[in-house]
Amino acid sequence: MNQAQWTAVDRYLNNLLVPSDPMLEAALEASAEAGLPPVNVAPNQGKLLNLLVLASGARTVLEIGTLGGYSTIWLARALPSSGRLVTLETDPRHAAVARENIAGAGLSEIVEILVGPAAESLPKLKAQLRPPFDLVFIDADKPATAEYFAWSLEMTHVGSLIVVDNVVRRGQVVEPGSDDQNVQGMRRFLDRLASEPRVSATALQTVGVKGYDGFLLAVVTAEAP
Ligand code: SAH
Ligand code: DHB
Ligand code: MG
Repeated sequence: MNQAQWTAVDRYLNNLLVPSDPMLEAALEASAEAGLPPVNVAPNQGKLLNLLVLASGARTVLEIGTLGGYSTIWLARALPSSGRLVTLETDPRHAAVARENIAGAGLSEIVEILVGPAAESLPKLKAQLRPPFDLVFIDADKPATAEYFAWSLEMTHVGSLIVVDNVVRRGQVVEPGSDDQNVQGMRRFLDRLASEPRVSATALQTVGVKGYDGFLLAVVTAEAP
């Protein structure tokens, strides 16, 4: 089993189940042209996010880590026209590319990009006392994942879904002595999650066009004590 095979299988499955879409392709092209790193979710992962919104009936989504808006578009597309998506991005250049891509996909009305470090945007968002989010997708700077998860718990309700990308990191997540801050960040997040009584969670390893990684799904099962 190797990368070539994982890529071939992703291609096969995506050809059948996730037909290429001009607006999403355009978003990726514009992102590449602007020099953004190609770390967006894979098409089948994007579709999974889309289906999670659809299946859960989510009307409000929070995304942490916008990049060029590729995952944003997948998520927002599953929302009703009365739905809302707030996405947080620290890099103004990424946010500018995302804004164009989201407009190109006809989603500007339901997507709001908050530019700035998520650690600053999250308290501001909470202070606005909006209705809680039905689904949160965490996919920004990995060392801060535990903090983003804690904020997510403050802004969701019983039944909300919290999805976290990149929890396996080529398997390095099992290495307690790893000197990779992304790995240590995920380990710290997973430790906290394990002792968090308000959620029920699982994590799956994934292989595909993005190599070997994993994603995590948590359901909020109880209010804050
Ligand atoms: N969700 C995107 C990929 C996000 S990549 C997709 O799948 O299409 C991670 C993004 O998080 C990058 O754009 C990076 O600039 C942003 N980021 C990094 N640190 C951040 C921070 N402290 N606050 C908000 N965004 C941050
Ligand atoms: C990186 C970030 C991601 O969100 C991802 O899915 C893959 C890689 C990165 O920064 O290396
Ligand atoms: Mg990711």
